[in-house]
Amino acid sequence: MAKFLVEKSSSLHGEIEVSGSKNAVLPIMAASILTDEKCQIMDAPVLRDVDVMCRLLESIGSQVKVNYEEGTVEIETSSIIAKEAPYELVKKMRASILVMGPLLSRTGQAKIALPGGCAIGARPINLHLKGFQALGADITEGHGYVEAKADKLVGANVYLDFPSVGATENIMMAAVMADGITVIENVAEEPEIVDLANFLNKMGARIKGAGTDTIKIEGVEALNGTKHAVIPDRIETGTFMVAAAITRGDILIKNVVPDHVKPIIAKLKECGVVIEDSDEGLRVHGDINELISTDIKTLPYPGFPTDMQSQFMAFLTTVSGPSVVIETVFENRYMHIGELNRMGANIKIEGRSAIIQGNQKLQGAQVISTDLRAGAALVLSGLVAEGTTEISEIYHIERGYTNFIGKFRALGARINRIEE
Ligand code: UD1
Repeated sequence: MAKFLVEKSSSLHGEIEVSGSKNAVLPIMAASILTDEKCQIMDAPVLRDVDVMCRLLESIGSQVKVNYEEGTVEIETSSIIAKEAPYELVKKMRASILVMGPLLSRTGQAKIALPGGCAIGARPINLHLKGFQALGADITEGHGYVEAKADKLVGANVYLDFPSVGATENIMMAAVMADGITVIENVAEEPEIVDLANFLNKMGARIKGAGTDTIKIEGVEALNGTKHAVIPDRIETGTFMVAAAITRGDILIKNVVPDHVKPIIAKLKECGVVIEDSDEGLRVHGDINELISTDIKTLPYPGFPTDMQSQFMAFLTTVSGPSVVIETVFENRYMHIGELNRMGANIKIEGRSAIIQGNQKLQGAQVISTDLRAGAALVLSGLVAEGTTEISEIYHIERGYTNFIGKFRALGARINRIEE
């Protein structure tokens, strides 16, 4: 099993270029099976999750060509050979569920093993299924799988009880070729939803309102192939912003959409971090002011992203004063706290809140990356902890960050990957 060894490093300096967004590319890849023509996706990140999605699409019948050097993924699905996503792939990546909407739309049938992925709570898919049902699909749930079938999908009104990102995407993809008009209310407004809608509209779909709380879709007969460059990864951006802050460094982050990281900018500024927005990118200075505590509450976009909660918490252990973090999106996303406390942090959980004492002197320790973002938080903590931090189960981190240690090393971080 591979591990990361992280040594206490001096302040990080230099520049990095953010890769394409993981959470944008995965639904876009899934959407490409809605047409029998070729789709070309550019600025794709180099990630294990992208590999898994490629294998999943190949198992469905797609011809997939990946050129990671150029960052392109070409997908052509002239025919569908399997209307299901097998457990051996779905268990590796929860986002596999995103093929359900497009499969149902294109073939009238989709069977999916119940998903795995990051262990951050129960993560049901009831809202996805509610949407498919509203569009006229019959849903059957068996041991470890769920199946949707429909002779013809028909446009409908769907209200999401929670603005789920995956449900919004899946229902949107199911509705693009349904008969008539679909209106989805209380949808997620994340930038990745807008990117998917832009991709679908380039394929010939008629989607309006992506990025607001209501999406309206007029069904079309068929979709065509297209070319699309995915947006930069806002969570990778945020992770390097926090890297500048926690190491009291100075990093220029390129290929950024500043609007997508507004809550992270706002919260870092509250802590005293200086951030300059220029044509080149975002320059983040953690080395100008004394850094102080703040409180965070995770919320659907445009609120503070749950995917930045653990990294920000790692940073808050190093500032003056206590902070409170409230996680409202996932019910079990505090598994990094035990690991941070092993490194000398002082964080207590009270219900959905975490109370963080600042000014902690962290110590290197053996820790486990319990999920993707928790792993990133441990790397950040390792950079400022005395001695060596040994992080195991790093496959979680490699699922979602392109060339993670290469980018950190280029900024002066002392981090190595070892195979055991
Ligand atoms: C996506 C992101 C993930 C991010 C999350 C929230 C991808 C591939 N992953 O995950 O990185 O952390 O958004 O920003 O884009 N829920 C239900 N029923 C459902 C669906 C969701 O109750 O049918 C609940 C979940 O349990 C969770 C909350 O809604 O508590 C948010 O989940 P959701 O927005 O669906 O997250 P994902 O799409 O899985």
